Amino acid sequence: MKHIDVLFEENPRSVSRDLAEPCREVRKYFDQEVRKHPSCLLGNISPSNFLLPSETHARKLLGDYDNGACILEVGCGDCVDSLTLAGRHNRVWAIDISERRLSDGRQNVIAAGKADQVFPLCMDATRLAFSDNTFDLIVGNSVLLFLDIEVFAPECYRVLKPGGRAIFPNESMALHPLMKLRRALPQVSARERIARRITIDSINRMSRHFDGVMHREFYLWSVLLAPLAARYGSTRFGATAVHFAHTFDDFLLRIVPRFRKYCWISVLEFHKAASPPLPRS
Ligand SMILES: C[S@@+](CC[C@H](N)C(=O)[O-])C[C@H]1O[C@@H](n2cnc3c(N)ncnc32)[C@H](O)[C@@H]1O
Repeated sequence: MKHIDVLFEENPRSVSRDLAEPCREVRKYFDQEVRKHPSCLLGNISPSNFLLPSETHARKLLGDYDNGACILEVGCGDCVDSLTLAGRHNRVWAIDISERRLSDGRQNVIAAGKADQVFPLCMDATRLAFSDNTFDLIVGNSVLLFLDIEVFAPECYRVLKPGGRAIFPNESMALHPLMKLRRALPQVSARERIARRITIDSINRMSRHFDGVMHREFYLWSVLLAPLAARYGSTRFGATAVHFAHTFDDFLLRIVPRFRKYCWISVLEFHKAASPPLPRS
């Protein structure tokens, strides 16, 4: 744990101090919500996993990450992804504002015997208590929708090392018509009160704080087949139908890029230049 001292700013800001009202609501929600988030970084690669295309893409972006990197996971929840990111050689600072989630996370880290590699901390992602240029990689799985990205983006950039990357492998988007209908259902609407799902516009706004961005959107009309994938994805017929739907989506999004804003999921990667960009003349 001695590395933590090296990384913190001189006066680390505590999460319980001055937590902004929207963050308090998010924390309250996640302190009570026990449902496990369905996606994980190196999770289920069976054909019955409807999210396979976006998860495969995110895995490619991660590349060979087990190289002694210093990693920050934002909104780590129960630390399942932090344990993956730790690999054999990395160190991962896993932050979340929900004490309840973190306590599950701490137990998982101890059970995995990785307490010397994964450090769960209660911290607000929009008020990072780390020094500038600390992390090689920042990862946040399904978390941007709970953050004020105008505040988070410059913080994220600040703590990235030059040449570092921030990857958000599974961000749900605001405008998919069917998902909008689903989110109006009473059983999920509580979450919607605290979520600000991303749009192509908000991605563009966030990218202004970085030196580069790549994002790819997934699942347009194929969303209709998600229930089929859950039920029949492991059968030949189900797997073929879902594969066809994904391939058609991919084709459609290539020929009509403006449909991307109606997709369900975006996978995002932001860059910090290895050397400061030259001033514009
Ligand atoms: C949808 S869950 C995803 C959890 C985990 N990444 C996973 O994939 O299982 C979003 C997580 O972000 C955390 N979170 C929300 N706002 C946060 C903030 N401002 N700072 C840190 N964590 C936050 C929540 O407490 C919650 O654990």
